[in-house]
Amino acid sequence: MLNLLNRIILTIFISIIVTPSFADEQHSHGANTNYLNTDWSFKGIFGTFDRASLQRGYQVYQEVCAGCHSVQHLSYRNLSEEGGPEFSVEEAKAIASQFELEDGPNSDGEMFMRSARLSDKFVKPFPNVQAAAAANDGAYPPDMSVLAKARAGGADYIYSLLMGYEEPPSGFELDDGVYYNKYMAGNKIKMSAPLMDGIVEYADGTEATTAQMSKDVTTFLVWAAEPHLEAQHRMGFKAIIYLIILLTLVYMSKQKVWSRFNSKEESEEEAFDKAERMVTEYEGEDPKTFK
Ligand code: HEC
Repeated sequence: MLNLLNRIILTIFISIIVTPSFADEQHSHGANTNYLNTDWSFKGIFGTFDRASLQRGYQVYQEVCAGCHSVQHLSYRNLSEEGGPEFSVEEAKAIASQFELEDGPNSDGEMFMRSARLSDKFVKPFPNVQAAAAANDGAYPPDMSVLAKARAGGADYIYSLLMGYEEPPSGFELDDGVYYNKYMAGNKIKMSAPLMDGIVEYADGTEATTAQMSKDVTTFLVWAAEPHLEAQHRMGFKAIIYLIILLTLVYMSKQKVWSRFNSKEESEEEAFDKAERMVTEYEGEDPKTFK
């Protein structure tokens, strides 16, 4: 009984410590490719985003990917929120004001164009899925708000895909508008390599190599899919500390409660004798002799 309790407490304790480190691995099952290995600062229970990388990633998204891919769940105000790229509110306002969207109707019943505000969602490159597919040779550029979560492999997959363009092996048939990519299912993708060295000029002076841009834009996309990741990590950490304290208290009180029975290891026989003695004493003439 005693050992069983100890074991239960130990098991809970170990599972608390071990579980979170597996939580981030959930995407990797079912992936059939060896993705390129990258150190992501946001992995693990203490993971946080690299702020500068997020800001550069936004720049890459905006200057390169946004021509085809929407991120419909993000609002411009998210860009200045804690846990994200953390642009200042002024910067986020300036970013929003570069985009135009249709609003209305006004008092005359007409729709009108105005520049975007912090509260607006990111302006989409195409009004609907059909228009997006029509402009891309029938292939729909998926919305990026949840892409990093939706694809097995997550960040590693997106990063690898961006780095995975190669000359097709000889004899590999490719139609027009289809490109060879090592990490795409079937190795065929209807998106030409979107990045090449120097395609953006980073405001912070970082050299814009394909690898650097891939890493930055992937970081941005992971944040876009999980804008509250850092807050969740903090909460998870607090919950773990709380549980550890709670378990320690449970363990200590268990030790205390059981200490009477556990003062020394007794054989079953001894325990029986002792019980018998107690009963005899109790049945004796003087009840005070009972202890
Ligand atoms: C010219 C338009 C265009 C641009 C620019 C573009 N993409 Fe795409 N992208 C597409 C299309 C079309 C598809 C769908 C390809 C397919 O299904 O074969 C796609 C698919 C993808 C996929 C999903 C692959 C999958 O698993 O289905 C990812 C990830 C992706 N793009 C990332 C990016 C990133 C990051 C950028 C910017 C650096 C970018 N794309 C820029 C058109 C574009």
